[in-house]
Amino acid sequence: MPQPLPRIAVLASGRGSNLQAVLDAIAAGSLAGEVVGVFSDKPGAAALQRVAPPLRWSAAAKAYPSREAFDADLAEAVAAARPDWILCAGYLRILGDAFVERFRGRTINIHPSLLPKYRGLHTHARALEAGDGEHGASVHFVIPELDAGTVIAQAVVPVHTGDTPELLAERVLGVEHPLLLAVMRLATSGRLAEHGATVQVDGHPLFTPLRLDCAGRLTDPAGGATA
Ligand code: GAR
Repeated sequence: MPQPLPRIAVLASGRGSNLQAVLDAIAAGSLAGEVVGVFSDKPGAAALQRVAPPLRWSAAAKAYPSREAFDADLAEAVAAARPDWILCAGYLRILGDAFVERFRGRTINIHPSLLPKYRGLHTHARALEAGDGEHGASVHFVIPELDAGTVIAQAVVPVHTGDTPELLAERVLGVEHPLLLAVMRLATSGRLAEHGATVQVDGHPLFTPLRLDCAGRLTDPAGGATA
């Protein structure tokens, strides 16, 4: 009997290029999985249009009396899709503790900085202001504290003289998609787990985040092994 495909729920607030990268990889056969729902706090989010109407869920977060009330509806909708993995791909609203705890260990987020640097917003402008020579993106497990969960993998880009936040954002986005896909491949093949504050790959703890190499593979800077 063929194994059922891993079920992926995607949370997105905006354009959805990371979601599209996941959809394209699934269609191309390079990621084993199925997107079972796209969930947004912004009913007008372009990301929603990237999947068929039955897979879309959205509600205007600002119409709710509290964060908890919105999160409760979101959590029910996500749970109804029976996901194995929940992927925050440009989801720009803080997830409350109840949501995070309910889906703990299977919720991951992509963030446009080399965490722990620049949690929160305006990461590209902040890297430029700090005069950083390199910048990048991180994929991490989601915990109740914003952008603070254990980092699974990172991709690095150079900062060039004359860069603007927009130019830098574009360069980072170029590595976000392969980074996210590489981590999703680990996740959907059952090789990735969160144990407390530790990431495990193939049952071994990861002491340093994996790094995306120029061939789109993840390497372990501590051990040199390719994931
Ligand atoms: C991406 O750059 C992602 O890293 C960032 O939003 C963008 C979404 O792009 N996420 C965050 O800032 C989360 N803190 P997309 O909608 O085209 O995938």
